[in-house]
Amino acid sequence: MLNPLHIKKDFPIFERQVNGKPLVYLDNASTTQKPGAVLDALTEYYSTMNANIHRGVHTLSEEATAAYEGVRAKVAAFIGAREPAEIVFTRNATEALNLIAYTWCEQNIYSGDEVVVSELEHHSNLVPWQELCRRKKAVLKILPLDGDAKICDGNIDVQRLDEFITEKCKLVAVTQLSNVLGTIVPLEKIIKRAREVGAVVVIDGAQGVPHLGIDVQKLDCDFLAFSSHKMFGPTGVGILYGKRELLEKMPPFLFGGDMVKEVTAHEANWNELPWKFEAGTPNIADVIAFGKAIEFMESLNFEEIRSHEKELVKYARQKLSEFPGMQIYGPASSAGIVSFNVPGVHPHDVASILNEAGVAVRAGHHCAQPLMQKLQVPATTRMSFSVYNDEGDVDTAVEALKNVYKIFKL
Ligand SMILES: Cc1ncc(COP(=O)(O)O)c(C=O)c1O
Repeated sequence: MLNPLHIKKDFPIFERQVNGKPLVYLDNASTTQKPGAVLDALTEYYSTMNANIHRGVHTLSEEATAAYEGVRAKVAAFIGAREPAEIVFTRNATEALNLIAYTWCEQNIYSGDEVVVSELEHHSNLVPWQELCRRKKAVLKILPLDGDAKICDGNIDVQRLDEFITEKCKLVAVTQLSNVLGTIVPLEKIIKRAREVGAVVVIDGAQGVPHLGIDVQKLDCDFLAFSSHKMFGPTGVGILYGKRELLEKMPPFLFGGDMVKEVTAHEANWNELPWKFEAGTPNIADVIAFGKAIEFMESLNFEEIRSHEKELVKYARQKLSEFPGMQIYGPASSAGIVSFNVPGVHPHDVASILNEAGVAVRAGHHCAQPLMQKLQVPATTRMSFSVYNDEGDVDTAVEALKNVYKIFKL
């Protein structure tokens, strides 16, 4: 059994107070807090090893290179990639998705081709494809969710996959887990249909990888994008996984130092994988510290994470449903996320009142405006859980919600 109170002790931020109250952090879908081991790794890197990587022959550079490349191997093993060369470090998941749009897609998407996303997508997995389709005169198709605004659990209407993913489809890009509703997307079914029509599959794992884990070989996706900062690692590190056969054929995304093999005054050729896609000095310190975040995740167990978050979601939904008129979105089986609205009160007001009690929640459209349009709301308030949250955190949030009802005389 996962022990949230024990885990919390590893996270120095929980020693602080907010508005005179102990911090209750329920904004984990935005970014998670960082364990001491990750923070220590940053200090240790800068105080004992700081050097540029790959090109140095001195000890510091060799040590930093080994540490940086060691994390690439760790990430590859963590997601079940065949080899570290299939892992490219970017700034964040968004950049990883843009990398695909500006490289593989430049060479493979043409006028009249179709690109399919779902109605659930975060803007990061929507806007790059909108722009791609505009550049290439391709057609963007949106897989609809089933149900109407009132009963929408965020489930993709899998009965309609054949209708939307047709022979013209070249690329399917879907999220593994909704950042608004916590819905787990049936990737196997979508990938099966994509394979039938020969489309390439991109998975946005920004939420899914931290909550559910992933095995890219078992799933047989072509690309996967995710972010270190949503899984206890530092900001500034994104991960792109791609199958070697695809990455090899793709042109580089950015040009400059380190991504080249040989350069003359007028020409250059490209470095081996994965360095072909890592131009310039990378985010060495944060990648190395991300290795500690992976070790932290490896000390946990995804089945335990899932059942812990399921219990918290069940508890939170039950407590929220006791408030008159409370609108709760998403499925009961949500992976760690509960979105809700207090009738007649803007989510920003709800979040501000909760903040007074030291409770951090998110309010807004969560970078998923098309999904807000489907739900027919401008915004929601969102609690998103992680391994250090417990029922006591929900109770504190619920007590603060009583103030919302008091202040707005509901
Ligand atoms: C589902 C999903 N995809 C993509 C992103 C973008 O991640 P980043 O901002 O780290 O690039 C997020 C961030 O909230 C997300 O929730």
